[in-house]
Amino acid sequence: MVHHHRHHPQQQRSKYDEEAAEALAYMDCANLCKKSRPRFLRILFIFSMVSCSLVFAPRLFSHGALPFLYSFSEEDLDDGFSATRTSLNMCSSIKNGTICCNRSSIRSDICFMKGDIRTSSFSSSIILYSGENSSSIVEEEHRIRPYTRKWEPHVMKTIDEISLIKTGEGSVESSKLSCEIEHRVPLIVFSTGGYTGNVYHEFNDGIFPLYITAQKFKGEVVVAMVEYHDWWIMKYGDILSKITNYPAIDFSGDRRTHCFPEAIVGLQIHDELTVNSTFMEDHKSIADFRALLDQAMKMGLKYFGYKILARESSLYNEYERESPVLKDPDSITRKGWEETKRVYLDGQNVRLEMQRFRKRLLKAYTHAVARRKRRGSRER
Ligand SMILES: *[C@@H]1O[C@H](CO)[C@@H](O)[C@H](O)[C@H]1NC(C)=O
Ligand SMILES: *[C@@H]1O[C@H](CO)[C@@H](O)[C@H](O)[C@H]1NC(C)=O
Ligand SMILES: *[C@@H]1O[C@H](CO)[C@@H](O)[C@H](O)[C@H]1NC(C)=O
Ligand SMILES: *[C@@H]1O[C@H](CO)[C@@H](O)[C@H](O)[C@H]1NC(C)=O
Repeated sequence: MVHHHRHHPQQQRSKYDEEAAEALAYMDCANLCKKSRPRFLRILFIFSMVSCSLVFAPRLFSHGALPFLYSFSEEDLDDGFSATRTSLNMCSSIKNGTICCNRSSIRSDICFMKGDIRTSSFSSSIILYSGENSSSIVEEEHRIRPYTRKWEPHVMKTIDEISLIKTGEGSVESSKLSCEIEHRVPLIVFSTGGYTGNVYHEFNDGIFPLYITAQKFKGEVVVAMVEYHDWWIMKYGDILSKITNYPAIDFSGDRRTHCFPEAIVGLQIHDELTVNSTFMEDHKSIADFRALLDQAMKMGLKYFGYKILARESSLYNEYERESPVLKDPDSITRKGWEETKRVYLDGQNVRLEMQRFRKRLLKAYTHAVARRKRRGSRER
């Protein structure tokens, strides 16, 4: 696939998808090239299965591929939102001393807090001191799982739930936590759990929404993760450093009390692999996001596809050679996501033939080296 250098905000979806796919391909290469983690093969396998392959998706992220992305079910919708003591109807512009949760999106909940905010990770909570001398311990409590796949209850169950508590200062039980680290900028909390480990999801469920939620702060924001992984920081540190000027916090692992004037728990998400400028406060678009990735990764993005052959799949030995599973994957994917997932994701292992795969690796490596040389000679 050719690599596009020019970007227009008005481009069609498929172009965004291509760019996103390139970004993902890059990440896989980064994994391989650095040989930093044994996990890379697994990621690569998943990625190969989903993207390149054999079987079902004609092209990763092309229209209609990966039907699970659109599998919302009505009963998962929760269209109420709770705002407290605020006459403004936008959660993002609440008054000091308030918490406002917006649960109207089918993809993610997001809560905003403003005032005297202190983290209490041992109790998985974030406390807002209202400054009122109330005798009640808790004036208000909101619970949220800060992950962007709200419509998938089974994965949401694996995400840590955080309690957002508004409390007075009068009672003994709520004796105020003392600040160990005082921050002057807002906090954003999100999860790097769930499907993190699969590159598609790392971007779709994490990096895109983080950009959407955080970029308006222009780096003046602290991020904290639940289900924190060091490897995630290694892998995405360069991108993260374009989004925040401060070190990331392991929300559950860091037991110190961090204090903030403002907090956002959960992330905003627009659509699959989308930054829709209509909904961005400063009208940033996918092109701006792409530019950020380019800056963060210097190494430029290029997509190298790898199609596995039937014989690289475990399904090869499980099904008749003439089976539609091997011969006509489209006929399986037409049966819907459940069937596709059962056959090709849950039921399949992929064993790459290194002789074949080597060619792709060489190509990627040569590309990376050539790029570096070109850059080097330009800089000299
Ligand atoms: C809640 O979020 C939606 C977007 O998901 C937005 O349109 C709406 O204005 C928000 N409501 C509040 C109260 O912030
Ligand atoms: C916001 O409220 C907190 C107490 O809840 C107070 O300490 C702080 O000074 C207030 N900030 C502003 C800007 O009013
Ligand atoms: C808070 O209220 C308690 C009684 O509920 C009272 O004894 C105490 O003096 C009050 N503290 C302040 C700072 O007003
Ligand atoms: C952005 O959202 C608006 C309103 O939902 C929609 O009409 C438009 O097509 C979206 N644009 C992109 C680039 O997705």
